[in-house]
Amino acid sequence: MQLRLSRSIVGVSEAEAVRRVIEEDGYLGMGAETRRFEEELAAWFGVEPWQVITTNTGTAALTLAVDSLFADSRLPERGGALPKVLVPSLTFVASFQAIVAAGCRPVACDVLPQTGTLDLRDAERRLDGDVVAIMPVHYASNPWHLDDVHDFARRKGLRVIEDAAHAFGCRHHGRKIGSFGDLVCFSFDGIKNITSGEGGCLVAFDRECAQRAADARLLAVEGDTRSRFAGTRTWTPDIKRLGWRFHLSNIMAAIGRVQLARLEPEFIPARRALAAQYASLLGDVPHLALLETDPEDFIVPHILPVRVLDGRKDAFKAAMEARGIPTGVHYKPNHLHSFFAAPPLPVCERLYAELVTLPLHPGLSAEDVETVCRAAREALI
Ligand SMILES: Cc1ncc(COP(=O)(O)O)c(C=O)c1O
Repeated sequence: MQLRLSRSIVGVSEAEAVRRVIEEDGYLGMGAETRRFEEELAAWFGVEPWQVITTNTGTAALTLAVDSLFADSRLPERGGALPKVLVPSLTFVASFQAIVAAGCRPVACDVLPQTGTLDLRDAERRLDGDVVAIMPVHYASNPWHLDDVHDFARRKGLRVIEDAAHAFGCRHHGRKIGSFGDLVCFSFDGIKNITSGEGGCLVAFDRECAQRAADARLLAVEGDTRSRFAGTRTWTPDIKRLGWRFHLSNIMAAIGRVQLARLEPEFIPARRALAAQYASLLGDVPHLALLETDPEDFIVPHILPVRVLDGRKDAFKAAMEARGIPTGVHYKPNHLHSFFAAPPLPVCERLYAELVTLPLHPGLSAEDVETVCRAAREALI
């Protein structure tokens, strides 16, 4: 079979869950299945059910998280100078679009060369009175120095929105990502550590933000989450603010519930074993460097970017593709997009010239990884 860079790992159990919703529940929208998924996610994180707000994409979760900042009375209501959010430029365009969609301004920051994660010193230089939040991105599932980000935010009076799209299942210094923090956002799109087809969730640690986000995902109909979970609707609401159609359907939640149950027994060991095999086979390949991780963190890798050094990236990608091995680019830094254009960020740009993503998903075998690594070695010797 053709090697794939990534793919959804779904099968009969997910199909059976969808069949059950169609034939037994009879309601495909947001209802009992979504409520159960939120409860199971909360139990898995070790938080209360009110803290977990599922959404139809990770981008929606990020948008709700940024929007929920306006629940904080210290923030101006919409209309004045746009509040700013510090964010590493080396991230999926979703992080930037979500900040803009929620009425704030992304401030592109540089990253660390060894990890691709936010460079706090660079972020600090960009602080001014309009900055209200910082959005660390757990690049390649790496929550690198997250405690330092929280310390920094506490000292500077900033909110923290974690873009943990890559990091479902990971732990930072023993604690699950999503079990602590301020506002933590996950993606359950088709290729993430778990999928619900498309989907995501926000974990919030204060009630006002959680309430605002829960309402905002249902067009800002106040309390409609409660109604829908009870099998009804809020029929005569008074709408007081902006909202979106960001809720997760029963169908998607049913898939997500099965995937959550498969995470610990199947997906975590598979992803970690494949990444460990890559590390052992690629460690001594010339002109290639692996990204660093903190040995005290528990990483469940969603993607496997490596650095191809000495100006060899394009030739390496072409050589891999010629051998039938697909590769990816995570990511074009956002400050290089016309819409988010900002002054140069040297480390982001250097990494953009080096990073190549190799295939990684639980459908790969150990032989597949050997094939990829053999091709990588041949391409670089
Ligand atoms: C870093 C990052 N942030 C946000 C997202 C957005 O998630 P979604 O695709 O579920 O909207 C992704 C998805 O790939 C991502 O990789």
